[in-house]
Amino acid sequence: MSPGHLLAAAASPGRGRRRLPAISGYGIILGVTSPADTSPFLLACRRQEVPYTPVWYMRQAGRSLPEYRELRLATSMRDAWSTPDLVAEITLQPVRRYDVDAAIFFSDIVVPLRAIGVGIDIKPGVGPVVDQPIRSAADLAVLRPLSPDDVPYITEAVTSLTAELGPKPLIGFAGGPFTLASYLVDGGPSKNFEITKSLMYGNPELWSDLMTRLTDITIAFLKVQADAGASAIQLFDSWAGALSPEDYRASVLPHTRRIFDALQASGVPRIHFGVNTGELLGAMGEAGADVVGVDWRVPLDEAVSRVEPGKALQGNLDPAILMAPWHVIEERARRVIDQGRTAEGHIFNLGHGVLPQTDPDVLARLTELVHTASARPA
Ligand code: CP3
Repeated sequence: MSPGHLLAAAASPGRGRRRLPAISGYGIILGVTSPADTSPFLLACRRQEVPYTPVWYMRQAGRSLPEYRELRLATSMRDAWSTPDLVAEITLQPVRRYDVDAAIFFSDIVVPLRAIGVGIDIKPGVGPVVDQPIRSAADLAVLRPLSPDDVPYITEAVTSLTAELGPKPLIGFAGGPFTLASYLVDGGPSKNFEITKSLMYGNPELWSDLMTRLTDITIAFLKVQADAGASAIQLFDSWAGALSPEDYRASVLPHTRRIFDALQASGVPRIHFGVNTGELLGAMGEAGADVVGVDWRVPLDEAVSRVEPGKALQGNLDPAILMAPWHVIEERARRVIDQGRTAEGHIFNLGHGVLPQTDPDVLARLTELVHTASARPA
């Protein structure tokens, strides 16, 4: 994107509400010191006292924003995620609009796989699709280890973003091992994951090798982001809820635990999220996350009893509620805030990603509501 295009995008309506400092000497100094421990988002992740409930939205950067859609008219998804200036711009778009308490790094779960040479791409309106599904021992060879040199644009984008964001935390992320495996084995989005599950049930050795390789790649990818300055990481094992607790514990949890263990030394809070995971919340916490993400199907005060002590919770307003009249949204959001008070720490979020048709003004209003309705007395 040309500088002119960036400037035009920056001047578009709704984006001037909160100006972030441009990259400058001052910004860079802020960036190299880790975000202040007084950031409400990090305080909540660490189950410390907060001035108000922090809020951000999964998929806040992306298709619900007109400025994102405009930028993508001339840019492929692949160019967008591998061009640091574009990554920074798209990551900052929702921060400017909504005044959320954290930014989520603009990338995708397919990025580390693509970076090591897997033929995987995002088909618009469909999702990740692979040229050559992985179904045999020979197919595994493509899943070589990821080195930071494979993703220089990630390091560069995280470095400039943390400088620009100053004390506002940047969340790095990766796809969880079951979710990545589901795309690689089924070959694309799947409803029942039948090919993935038949491999998991029928060939445990191959499954274990596949998961081990995906785990190594994911650890390396998350470390690149944490080393470059991301202040938290989230593992999106979005489709793990397709498994029974028993199968999840046997076939996924040991690998996920290795991911969270490997990130422990980086000192950044670790968030673990999946959809339809009501029955897995305890196991997902045991995998070693500091924060367990909850979808909208389980009220947060119930989720508290399903997760072992010592965890914060994130969630969980139904993203579809944002299409309802404001008074409904407000009532439901207040309920989430109240139920969140029963957790040791609570980060307000949706129960899954922002739906593309969401009105950005509703998210701006919701953010303000969460901040004011949850404000603790001074
Ligand atoms: O704010 C953000 O969260 C933006 C960064 C982000 C993207 N993908 C960018 C993106 C994040 C965190 C993701 C995670 C992701 N990607 C997940 C886990 C989260 C979840 O929703 O459960 C999954 C399963 C994917 C795989 C994927 N990538 C899907 C299913 C799709 C949608 C396909 C479609 O067009 O309907 C994508 C594409 C994608 N990733 C878009 C964005 C902004 C949309 C691309 C576009 O059309 O502009």
